[in-house]
Amino acid sequence: MPTKTVLGIILSGRGSNMQAIVDAISAGRLANAKVGVIISDNPNANALTRIPASDIPRVCIERENFKDKASFEKALIKELRIHHVELVVLAGFMRILSAEFLNEFNGNVMNIHPSLLPAFSGLKAQEQTLNYGVKVSGCTVHFVDDGMDTGPVILQQAVPVLENDTVESLSERILHVEHILYPRAISLFCEGRLKVVNRKVQILEKPEK
Ligand code: GAR
Repeated sequence: MPTKTVLGIILSGRGSNMQAIVDAISAGRLANAKVGVIISDNPNANALTRIPASDIPRVCIERENFKDKASFEKALIKELRIHHVELVVLAGFMRILSAEFLNEFNGNVMNIHPSLLPAFSGLKAQEQTLNYGVKVSGCTVHFVDDGMDTGPVILQQAVPVLENDTVESLSERILHVEHILYPRAISLFCEGRLKVVNRKVQILEKPEK
């Protein structure tokens, strides 16, 4: 049986993407991955209670408890290492990670963002989308670099913006697609089919030997 890639999911809030990843694993759509640990930087994150503690270790690491970003990130790295994490999956984690953190995992850090990057990066992407008035939005899964939502794009899917959309209705329509796209991107990674060349992600037919 092929070995499973160990994921470490880091989040700050609701955790619906985390749930989608856990569900995809249970349903066999992401059979080549397992979740080693779920880390939240927010003690009130709903995500911490979405999954029974007995199933997957859950840890809260609060930024306020550390004197600086470097020591906070050191604590994250320590926890991820304890659980032998190979791919760090950011799922609604609202902080920018340093180059030092990313190097620890050889750049094997993914994020999902609710717009078609590079449009509408940063916070409140759906609100930015509606304010600008574009007719098509969507979501992007990308490798993380030390910029804000600037890393190499893995998968994107478009979602129409409707005439009467509110931030809530657009967010919900995008979120539905996020829940399909993120497990798919993670699965490609676990199959060894993602190769970054000159900042561009190639999706290989077969993994390279
Ligand atoms: C998702 O829409 C995700 O794309 C977004 O936060 C939400 C988290 O929802 N991430 C960002 O905006 C990152 N810049 P969830 O906690 O239910 O997965």
